[in-house]
Amino acid sequence: KKILILNGPNLNLLGTREPAQYGHTTLADVEAFCKAHGEKLGYAVECFQSNWEGALLDKIHEYGQLFKAGEVLGVVINPGALTHTSIALHDAIKGVDPMPVIECHISNVHAREAFRHHSWVSPAAAGIVIGFGVDGYLVAIDGLLRKFVHSAA
Ligand code: DQA
Repeated sequence: KKILILNGPNLNLLGTREPAQYGHTTLADVEAFCKAHGEKLGYAVECFQSNWEGALLDKIHEYGQLFKAGEVLGVVINPGALTHTSIALHDAIKGVDPMPVIECHISNVHAREAFRHHSWVSPAAAGIVIGFGVDGYLVAIDGLLRKFVHSAA
């Protein structure tokens, strides 16, 4: 089965963008260690980043179909600033229910500006990982497996 790592606006700039917030690891590095981690666990990890909201919605819809076909375990998404603005992203995740989508933020958004404290994505998410740096993507993959593969529930 496949896991999708989905990154939203400005995350292509990881590594050089506000390193005090987001560190020095590039998106290519993140995608490479997610793929390696997934493979070790027996999953194929696909990665996609876009600065365009619609492209992210299309990818969620595409994966929703693959989930129905039994080909997908779930999605890890860092929606970037769309977290705080996008009802469309909320609706897309609801629209592909029950495909699990884990929300992931590199920084601790709750320790930052008030406008980052609200997430439209969180009410639709199967789990949320916040403030672990880029390791959070791995925590999210592990959480996806623990909740949807290894759990008895
Ligand atoms: C972010 C937090 C958001 O508030 C911000 O707009 C981002 C990155 C994070 O990973 O910490 O682009 O999602």
